Amino acid sequence: MLTLRTDTAERLAQLQELETPCALVDLDRLATNLDRMASYAVLHGLALRPHVKTHKSPRIAAEQLRLGAVGLTCATPRELEVMSDVSHDLLLAYPLLGDSKLKRVMNLPRSVRLTVGLDSMIAVDALGEAAEAADRDVEVLVEVDLGMHRVGVQSAAEALALALHIRSRPLLRFAGVMFYPGHIREHVQQQDQNLDRLRADVSDLIDVLRRGGVEARVVSGGSTPAAWRMHEVQGVTEVRPGTYVYNDRTTAALGACAWDDCAFTVLGTVVSTAVPGQAVVDCGAKALGREPMRGVEGEGFGALLDRPEVVVTRMSEEHGVLDLSASSWRPRVGELVRIVPNHVCIVVHLNDVIHGVRGDQVEASWPVAARGRT
Ligand SMILES: Cc1ncc(COP(=O)(O)O)c(C=O)c1O
Repeated sequence: MLTLRTDTAERLAQLQELETPCALVDLDRLATNLDRMASYAVLHGLALRPHVKTHKSPRIAAEQLRLGAVGLTCATPRELEVMSDVSHDLLLAYPLLGDSKLKRVMNLPRSVRLTVGLDSMIAVDALGEAAEAADRDVEVLVEVDLGMHRVGVQSAAEALALALHIRSRPLLRFAGVMFYPGHIREHVQQQDQNLDRLRADVSDLIDVLRRGGVEARVVSGGSTPAAWRMHEVQGVTEVRPGTYVYNDRTTAALGACAWDDCAFTVLGTVVSTAVPGQAVVDCGAKALGREPMRGVEGEGFGALLDRPEVVVTRMSEEHGVLDLSASSWRPRVGELVRIVPNHVCIVVHLNDVIHGVRGDQVEASWPVAARGRT
């Protein structure tokens, strides 16, 4: 049972009492999403290490851990600092560079088992020196590019060379490899070809490391769109989905969740219907972000939760234009709407506070505590 439950001390308001735009999370959907991924991981014997960049909230991280997550994945030192309150097993899945950031990370409580993912000799040396200065053990995952073409060493041989270099630093421990399958953005049922390639690459990687005398205890992968089929990639030990907690319009379009699994919406108010064929809400780019749908069909920047055919097709900073051409719905000025954004992680980060709701009742509010770019 989700601990983000009705609590009279937290009973804050009815939806109608909130100022818009603001961020809402449907608590029942959130609970279902958390349960579903936790069950998937248990069913397939995969360690679940959710990425906190989606919710940036220790409260939800604590729930993920309660449901069996082995630890958490972070992208920034700030996320590590905030999440060290709820977990003693943190992965920084982002190259760590710069003295100030290295110091902050080394200053995490000693009780935290810290793992860092990286892909260069320079990052290994910087981390090794910081670890030595702080007299702190750090586990390291070598990030490998298995198709995303963002970061990651380009071959198994390079991964081996980096692993051996990590081993040469007194306080660094080579733990294994990580990859981010963000390039797999086909519908869940159409991922076969990409998964075949991933299977071959992961198997080759493990083989080359083994022949070089290095054992990858951890093979960490898994985005939300690819999470549901990661068990088909032999050798993967851990998955790091993030978006699944809230889901969004893109995730639904990819078939990685149903529309009814979208837990996060931006609550807005219709502020004008003066121009025929459209309604204007107080959710512009500063409330919804300006993320296009990536890898899937779909125009605009978000769609109404209750009427997905009504899309935010244009935005200014504070205005979002709802195109009414596909709907018979004609809203009145002052009406509330709930908008599912294209990419939820960006929109969460635009908010200080999230309101947890059941129906029209606000039952909890929590800060986006790990907000910030660093
Ligand atoms: C390194 C890494 N791991 C895991 C994730 C989580 O993926 P998703 O947002 O698809 O759940 C991300 C997302 O950006 C990522 O960059």
